[in-house]
Amino acid sequence: MSNENRQNTTINWFPGHMAKAIREIKEKINLVDMIIEVCDSRAPYASLNPIVSTLTANKFYLRVLSKVDMADEKMVLINKQEFEKQGIAHIFVDLNKKESVKPIVNKIKEVAKPFILKDIKRGLKPRNIRVMIIGIPNVGKSTLINLLAKRKSAQVGNMPGFTKAQKWVHGEGYDLLDTPGILWPNLSENQVGVKLALIGCIKEEILPTLELTSIALNFLSAKYSDLLYNKYGIEYIDAQQYLNSFALKKAHLLKNGELDIKRSALLILNDLKNGKIGKINVDNLEG
Ligand code: G4P
Repeated sequence: MSNENRQNTTINWFPGHMAKAIREIKEKINLVDMIIEVCDSRAPYASLNPIVSTLTANKFYLRVLSKVDMADEKMVLINKQEFEKQGIAHIFVDLNKKESVKPIVNKIKEVAKPFILKDIKRGLKPRNIRVMIIGIPNVGKSTLINLLAKRKSAQVGNMPGFTKAQKWVHGEGYDLLDTPGILWPNLSENQVGVKLALIGCIKEEILPTLELTSIALNFLSAKYSDLLYNKYGIEYIDAQQYLNSFALKKAHLLKNGELDIKRSALLILNDLKNGKIGKINVDNLEG
């Protein structure tokens, strides 16, 4: 596939249930004081949902960047500095590690400090800050909630007093509200759909597997050639040649003896999104 074609690959995924989830999030937004947006450290910009920025007025905001264990360390540093410069409260974490709980809770408290002080100044015992967890699919929202719910005081339950009972997770000083993964209607700009597909945020069934693998290989050979070579031990000339060599090496064959390129492509895409090729950042895919 030519470079021009690669740039024309568009991936969009905005099913009805996401539009419904966005409506529901908008209905519930008045119940919360704070929004935690979960993004992926491998694509801190592509995984930022533009809809969220329309919801954060008058809310405390914390950006949790998950999967730092799979992210290009140099880019993590650069992104950290950028967020600091922009004054965005954030934390890069591995949500699969229990040790991440404390720094996350500390960060929530730090962001919520004005909220807590306001109550104290009025002579009130501060109530728990109510936090909505938002993010695109598969970034780690449930993992974050489970991590924070594992604290001693945490419990899952309904919070009475609202028009519709909500499932809240109660923690020490905070109550968390889970929401379904949401995307937005047009993911073509800056190849966002492609970037999100490469890190596993788009439903596999709708993806153009071969085109996407071709983009992935071209990207890896340009930006992470050592990782690609160390993982599979195949020299990259172009995507087609690479997939053929890969299928041969892995003995991916169809019943008629031809190479099963699709099987090879799926394996490469899976390895990439599961961090098996190495630590990456896909935000600068097009650059
Ligand atoms: P979601 O609610 O936002 O949809 O995401 P969820 O918590 O279900 O997490 C999606 C997958 O990402 C899970 O893998 C989870 O373990 C993994 N994950 C979340 N945070 C981190 C992290 O910081 N580091 C790493 N390495 N993995 C993380 P899974 O159960 O294997 O699901 P799947 O990948 O098969 O969908």
